[in-house]
Amino acid sequence: MKVTVVGAGNVGATCADAVARWELANEVVLLDIKEGFAEGKALDIWQTAPINLFDSRVTGSTNDYTKTAGSDVVVITSGLPRKPGMSRDDLIATNAAIVKSVTESVVKHSPDAIMIIVSNPLDVMTYCAYITSKLPSQKVFGMAGILDTARYRAFLATELNVSPKDIQAVLMGGHGDTMVPLPRYTTVGGIPVTELISKEKLDAIVDRTKKGGGEIVNLLGTSAWYAPGTAAAQMVESIVRDQKRVFPCCVWLQGEYGLKDIYMGAPVILGRNGVERIIELKLNAEEMELVKASGKAVKEVMDVLDKMNSNVTA
Ligand code: LAC
Repeated sequence: MKVTVVGAGNVGATCADAVARWELANEVVLLDIKEGFAEGKALDIWQTAPINLFDSRVTGSTNDYTKTAGSDVVVITSGLPRKPGMSRDDLIATNAAIVKSVTESVVKHSPDAIMIIVSNPLDVMTYCAYITSKLPSQKVFGMAGILDTARYRAFLATELNVSPKDIQAVLMGGHGDTMVPLPRYTTVGGIPVTELISKEKLDAIVDRTKKGGGEIVNLLGTSAWYAPGTAAAQMVESIVRDQKRVFPCCVWLQGEYGLKDIYMGAPVILGRNGVERIIELKLNAEEMELVKASGKAVKEVMDVLDKMNSNVTA
Protein backbone atom coordinates (compact mmCIF):
# COMPACT_ATOMS: atom_id res chain seq x y z
CA MET A 1 0.00 0.00 0.00
CA LYS A 2 1.09 3.54 -0.72
CA VAL A 3 -0.51 6.53 0.97
CA THR A 4 0.25 10.15 0.07
CA VAL A 5 -0.60 13.11 2.26
CA VAL A 6 -0.55 16.44 0.43
CA GLY A 7 0.19 19.39 2.70
CA ALA A 8 2.79 18.94 5.42
CA GLY A 9 1.25 21.47 7.79
CA ASN A 10 0.00 20.44 11.19
CA VAL A 11 -3.00 18.44 9.91
CA GLY A 12 -1.08 16.68 7.13
CA ALA A 13 1.88 15.82 9.35
CA THR A 14 -0.41 14.50 12.10
CA CYS A 15 -2.21 12.36 9.53
CA ALA A 16 1.04 11.01 8.03
CA ASP A 17 2.33 10.26 11.52
CA ALA A 18 -0.79 8.21 12.36
CA VAL A 19 -0.75 6.41 8.99
CA ALA A 20 2.88 5.40 9.58
CA ARG A 21 2.46 4.57 13.27
CA TRP A 22 -0.55 2.36 12.56
CA GLU A 23 1.36 0.75 9.67
CA LEU A 24 -1.44 1.40 7.20
CA ALA A 25 0.97 1.49 4.26
CA ASN A 26 4.50 0.36 3.54
CA GLU A 27 5.11 3.69 1.79
CA VAL A 28 3.95 7.04 3.14
CA VAL A 29 4.73 10.16 1.10
CA LEU A 30 4.29 13.64 2.50
CA LEU A 31 4.28 16.46 -0.07
CA ASP A 32 4.31 20.24 0.33
CA ILE A 33 5.09 23.25 -1.85
CA LYS A 34 7.36 24.83 0.75
CA GLU A 35 10.99 23.89 -0.03
CA GLY A 36 12.30 21.16 2.26
CA PHE A 37 9.29 21.31 4.59
CA ALA A 38 7.76 17.91 3.79
CA GLU A 39 11.20 16.32 3.72
CA GLY A 40 11.90 17.69 7.20
CA LYS A 41 8.57 16.56 8.67
CA ALA A 42 8.85 13.16 7.01
CA LEU A 43 12.37 12.67 8.33
CA ASP A 44 11.25 13.58 11.84
CA ILE A 45 8.33 11.10 11.63
CA TRP A 46 10.63 8.40 10.22
CA GLN A 47 12.98 8.94 13.17
CA THR A 48 10.13 7.95 15.51
CA ALA A 49 10.01 4.51 13.85
CA PRO A 50 12.62 2.91 16.13
CA ILE A 51 10.72 4.31 19.14
CA ASN A 52 7.15 3.68 18.02
CA LEU A 53 8.18 0.43 16.35
CA PHE A 54 6.74 0.72 12.86
CA ASP A 55 8.31 0.02 9.51
CA SER A 56 6.21 2.12 7.13
CA ARG A 57 8.75 4.12 5.12
CA VAL A 58 8.02 7.84 5.36
CA THR A 59 9.49 10.23 2.79
CA GLY A 60 8.93 13.87 1.89
CA SER A 61 8.78 15.73 -1.40
CA THR A 62 8.82 19.40 -2.38
CA ASN A 63 5.99 19.49 -4.91
CA ASP A 64 7.37 16.57 -6.96
CA TYR A 65 4.27 14.49 -7.67
CA THR A 66 6.25 11.77 -9.44
CA LYS A 67 7.17 10.65 -5.90
CA THR A 68 3.45 10.12 -5.20
CA ALA A 69 2.89 7.95 -8.30
CA GLY A 70 0.75 4.88 -7.84
CA SER A 71 -0.73 5.89 -4.48
CA ASP A 72 -3.70 3.85 -3.29
CA VAL A 73 -5.05 6.61 -1.07
CA VAL A 74 -4.28 10.35 -1.19
CA VAL A 75 -5.25 12.71 1.62
CA ILE A 76 -5.44 16.39 0.64
CA THR A 77 -4.92 18.81 3.50
CA SER A 78 -3.53 21.75 1.49
CA GLY A 79 -4.85 25.23 1.94
CA LEU A 80 -4.87 28.04 4.45
CA PRO A 81 -6.26 27.36 7.91
CA ARG A 82 -8.74 29.66 9.63
CA LYS A 83 -7.71 32.64 11.75
CA PRO A 84 -9.88 33.97 14.59
CA GLY A 85 -12.98 35.74 13.23
CA MET A 86 -12.93 33.80 9.95
CA SER A 87 -15.55 31.26 8.94
CA ARG A 88 -14.48 28.21 6.96
CA ASP A 89 -16.30 29.73 3.98
CA ASP A 90 -13.98 32.76 4.00
CA LEU A 91 -11.25 30.46 2.68
CA ILE A 92 -13.07 29.46 -0.50
CA ALA A 93 -11.28 31.42 -3.24
CA THR A 94 -7.74 30.73 -2.04
CA ASN A 95 -8.27 27.13 -1.12
CA ALA A 96 -10.32 26.22 -4.22
CA ALA A 97 -7.41 27.24 -6.46
CA ILE A 98 -5.03 25.18 -4.34
CA VAL A 99 -7.28 22.10 -4.15
CA LYS A 100 -7.91 22.22 -7.91
CA SER A 101 -4.23 22.28 -8.81
CA VAL A 102 -3.33 19.63 -6.21
CA THR A 103 -6.13 17.35 -7.46
CA GLU A 104 -4.94 17.64 -11.08
CA SER A 105 -1.40 16.64 -10.09
CA VAL A 106 -2.60 13.81 -7.85
CA VAL A 107 -4.83 12.26 -10.53
CA LYS A 108 -2.13 12.56 -13.18
CA HIS A 109 0.22 10.36 -11.16
CA SER A 110 -2.26 8.18 -9.24
CA PRO A 111 -5.29 7.72 -11.50
CA ASP A 112 -6.63 4.85 -9.37
CA ALA A 113 -6.29 6.54 -5.99
CA ILE A 114 -9.06 7.10 -3.51
CA MET A 115 -9.04 10.75 -2.43
CA ILE A 116 -9.88 12.06 1.02
CA ILE A 117 -10.29 15.83 1.23
CA VAL A 118 -9.60 17.68 4.46
CA SER A 119 -9.19 21.28 3.21
CA ASN A 120 -11.78 23.90 4.18
CA PRO A 121 -14.51 24.86 3.50
CA LEU A 122 -14.68 21.08 3.61
CA ASP A 123 -17.88 20.18 1.76
CA VAL A 124 -17.16 22.58 -1.08
CA MET A 125 -13.47 21.66 -1.37
CA THR A 126 -14.56 18.01 -1.68
CA TYR A 127 -16.91 19.06 -4.47
CA CYS A 128 -14.03 20.98 -6.08
CA ALA A 129 -11.80 17.87 -6.00
CA TYR A 130 -14.65 15.74 -7.39
CA ILE A 131 -15.32 17.93 -10.42
CA THR A 132 -11.61 18.40 -11.05
CA SER A 133 -10.67 14.73 -10.71
CA LYS A 134 -13.53 13.33 -12.84
CA LEU A 135 -13.31 10.23 -10.64
CA PRO A 136 -16.44 8.38 -9.52
CA SER A 137 -17.91 9.94 -6.36
CA GLN A 138 -17.31 6.70 -4.42
CA LYS A 139 -13.62 7.51 -4.64
CA VAL A 140 -13.70 11.20 -3.69
CA PHE A 141 -15.03 12.19 -0.28
CA GLY A 142 -14.26 14.42 2.65
CA MET A 143 -13.28 14.11 6.28
CA ALA A 144 -15.44 16.03 8.70
CA GLY A 145 -17.93 13.73 10.37
CA ILE A 146 -15.34 11.67 12.26
CA LEU A 147 -13.82 14.88 13.62
CA ASP A 148 -17.16 16.43 14.52
CA THR A 149 -18.51 13.26 16.17
CA ALA A 150 -15.17 12.85 17.98
CA ARG A 151 -15.64 16.30 19.48
CA TYR A 152 -19.23 15.48 20.42
CA ARG A 153 -18.18 12.13 21.93
CA ALA A 154 -15.28 13.71 23.82
CA PHE A 155 -17.58 16.35 25.34
CA LEU A 156 -20.06 13.64 26.34
CA ALA A 157 -17.31 11.47 27.84
CA THR A 158 -16.17 14.38 30.00
CA GLU A 159 -19.70 15.27 31.09
CA LEU A 160 -20.74 11.68 31.89
CA ASN A 161 -17.30 10.66 33.19
CA VAL A 162 -17.27 7.54 31.00
CA SER A 163 -14.80 6.14 28.49
CA PRO A 164 -14.99 7.88 25.10
CA LYS A 165 -14.65 4.38 23.61
CA ASP A 166 -18.19 3.57 24.69
CA ILE A 167 -19.83 6.57 23.06
CA GLN A 168 -21.24 5.99 19.59
CA ALA A 169 -22.81 8.81 17.63
CA VAL A 170 -24.03 9.91 14.24
CA LEU A 171 -23.81 13.44 12.92
CA MET A 172 -24.99 14.78 9.58
CA GLY A 173 -24.84 17.90 7.45
CA GLY A 174 -22.09 20.29 6.41
CA HIS A 175 -18.85 20.88 8.30
CA GLY A 176 -19.92 24.23 9.69
CA ASP A 177 -22.16 25.74 12.31
CA THR A 178 -25.20 24.10 10.68
CA MET A 179 -23.93 20.54 11.28
CA VAL A 180 -26.49 18.23 12.84
CA PRO A 181 -25.42 16.01 15.75
CA LEU A 182 -28.16 13.42 16.29
CA PRO A 183 -28.83 12.71 20.00
CA ARG A 184 -31.49 10.13 19.05
CA TYR A 185 -28.71 8.12 17.42
CA THR A 186 -26.20 8.59 20.25
CA THR A 187 -25.54 5.77 22.69
CA VAL A 188 -23.29 5.14 25.69
CA GLY A 189 -22.44 1.45 25.92
CA GLY A 190 -25.68 0.74 24.05
CA ILE A 191 -27.81 2.99 26.31
CA PRO A 192 -29.52 5.92 24.58
CA VAL A 193 -27.68 9.06 25.74
CA THR A 194 -31.00 10.78 26.38
CA GLU A 195 -31.50 8.43 29.36
CA LEU A 196 -28.24 9.53 30.98
CA ILE A 197 -28.16 13.30 30.61
CA SER A 198 -30.63 16.18 30.96
CA LYS A 199 -31.96 17.85 27.85
CA GLU A 200 -30.34 21.16 28.83
CA LYS A 201 -26.89 19.60 29.19
CA LEU A 202 -27.25 17.64 25.95
CA ASP A 203 -28.38 20.76 24.07
CA ALA A 204 -25.35 22.64 25.40
CA ILE A 205 -23.03 19.84 24.21
CA VAL A 206 -24.66 19.77 20.78
CA ASP A 207 -24.17 23.52 20.55
CA ARG A 208 -20.53 23.32 21.66
CA THR A 209 -19.93 20.58 19.06
CA LYS A 210 -21.26 22.77 16.26
CA LYS A 211 -18.80 25.49 17.24
CA GLY A 212 -16.04 23.01 18.16
CA GLY A 213 -13.64 24.05 15.40
CA GLY A 214 -14.08 27.75 16.27
CA GLU A 215 -13.42 27.06 19.95
CA ILE A 216 -9.96 25.74 19.03
CA VAL A 217 -9.29 28.57 16.56
CA ASN A 218 -10.02 31.08 19.33
CA LEU A 219 -7.71 29.29 21.75
CA LEU A 220 -4.82 28.72 19.34
CA GLY A 221 -5.15 31.46 16.73
CA THR A 222 -5.25 28.74 14.04
CA SER A 223 -7.21 25.57 13.29
CA ALA A 224 -7.03 22.28 15.12
CA TRP A 225 -4.76 19.47 13.90
CA TYR A 226 -4.51 16.49 16.25
CA ALA A 227 -8.17 15.49 15.90
CA PRO A 228 -8.54 16.41 12.18
CA GLY A 229 -5.31 14.64 11.18
CA THR A 230 -6.07 11.51 13.22
CA ALA A 231 -9.65 11.43 11.92
CA ALA A 232 -8.37 11.43 8.33
CA ALA A 233 -5.99 8.57 9.20
CA GLN A 234 -8.91 6.58 10.58
CA MET A 235 -10.61 6.87 7.19
CA VAL A 236 -7.40 5.68 5.50
CA GLU A 237 -7.39 2.70 7.87
CA SER A 238 -10.93 1.65 7.04
CA ILE A 239 -10.08 1.82 3.32
CA VAL A 240 -6.70 0.08 3.21
CA ARG A 241 -7.76 -2.63 5.66
CA ASP A 242 -11.18 -2.93 4.03
CA GLN A 243 -12.76 -2.67 7.47
CA LYS A 244 -16.13 -1.47 6.22
CA ARG A 245 -16.49 0.80 9.23
CA VAL A 246 -19.51 3.04 9.53
CA PHE A 247 -18.51 6.68 9.70
CA PRO A 248 -20.12 10.00 8.88
CA CYS A 249 -18.24 11.30 5.83
CA CYS A 250 -18.75 14.12 3.37
CA VAL A 251 -20.22 12.34 0.33
CA TRP A 252 -21.97 13.07 -2.97
CA LEU A 253 -25.69 12.75 -2.33
CA GLN A 254 -27.90 11.72 -5.22
CA GLY A 255 -31.39 11.81 -3.75
CA GLU A 256 -30.58 10.44 -0.30
CA TYR A 257 -32.30 12.54 2.39
CA GLY A 258 -34.10 14.33 -0.44
CA LEU A 259 -30.83 16.05 -1.43
CA LYS A 260 -29.27 15.89 -4.86
CA ASP A 261 -25.97 16.99 -6.42
CA ILE A 262 -24.46 18.06 -3.16
CA TYR A 263 -21.47 17.02 -1.06
CA MET A 264 -22.50 16.78 2.58
CA GLY A 265 -22.04 14.66 5.69
CA ALA A 266 -23.97 11.39 5.97
CA PRO A 267 -23.24 7.97 7.50
CA VAL A 268 -21.49 5.62 5.09
CA ILE A 269 -19.71 2.28 4.94
CA LEU A 270 -16.05 2.83 4.12
CA GLY A 271 -14.03 -0.01 2.57
CA ARG A 272 -11.43 -0.82 -0.05
CA ASN A 273 -13.67 0.61 -2.77
CA GLY A 274 -14.18 3.88 -0.92
CA VAL A 275 -17.77 4.76 -0.08
CA GLU A 276 -19.45 1.37 -0.42
CA ARG A 277 -22.88 2.46 0.74
CA ILE A 278 -24.61 5.60 1.95
CA ILE A 279 -26.88 4.76 4.88
CA GLU A 280 -30.26 6.49 4.94
CA LEU A 281 -31.35 6.96 8.52
CA LYS A 282 -34.98 7.48 9.40
CA LEU A 283 -35.01 11.07 10.56
CA ASN A 284 -37.94 12.73 12.32
CA ALA A 285 -39.38 15.99 10.98
CA GLU A 286 -37.24 18.18 13.24
CA GLU A 287 -33.99 16.38 12.33
CA MET A 288 -34.87 16.42 8.64
CA GLU A 289 -35.46 20.16 8.79
CA LEU A 290 -32.01 20.71 10.32
CA VAL A 291 -30.38 18.50 7.67
CA LYS A 292 -32.17 20.39 4.88
CA ALA A 293 -31.09 23.74 6.36
CA SER A 294 -27.50 22.51 6.51
CA GLY A 295 -27.79 21.36 2.89
CA LYS A 296 -29.00 24.81 1.90
CA ALA A 297 -26.01 26.45 3.60
CA VAL A 298 -23.57 24.09 1.84
CA LYS A 299 -25.28 24.59 -1.53
CA GLU A 300 -24.89 28.37 -1.26
CA VAL A 301 -21.11 27.98 -0.95
CA MET A 302 -21.07 25.38 -3.75
CA ASP A 303 -22.83 27.95 -5.94
CA VAL A 304 -20.09 30.49 -5.16
CA LEU A 305 -17.53 27.96 -6.42
CA ASP A 306 -19.60 27.18 -9.54
CA LYS A 307 -19.81 30.91 -10.31
CA MET A 308 -16.06 31.33 -9.84
CA ASN A 309 -15.46 28.42 -12.22
CA SER A 310 -17.86 29.72 -14.89
CA ASN A 311 -16.13 33.14 -14.71
CA VAL A 312 -12.80 31.45 -15.29
CA THR A 313 -14.03 29.45 -18.30
CA ALA A 314 -16.12 32.35 -19.75
C1 LAC B 1 -11.90 22.16 12.45
C2 LAC B 1 -11.35 22.62 11.16
C3 LAC B 1 -10.13 21.86 10.79
O1 LAC B 1 -13.10 21.86 12.51
O2 LAC B 1 -12.31 22.61 10.17
O3 LAC B 1 -11.14 22.11 13.42
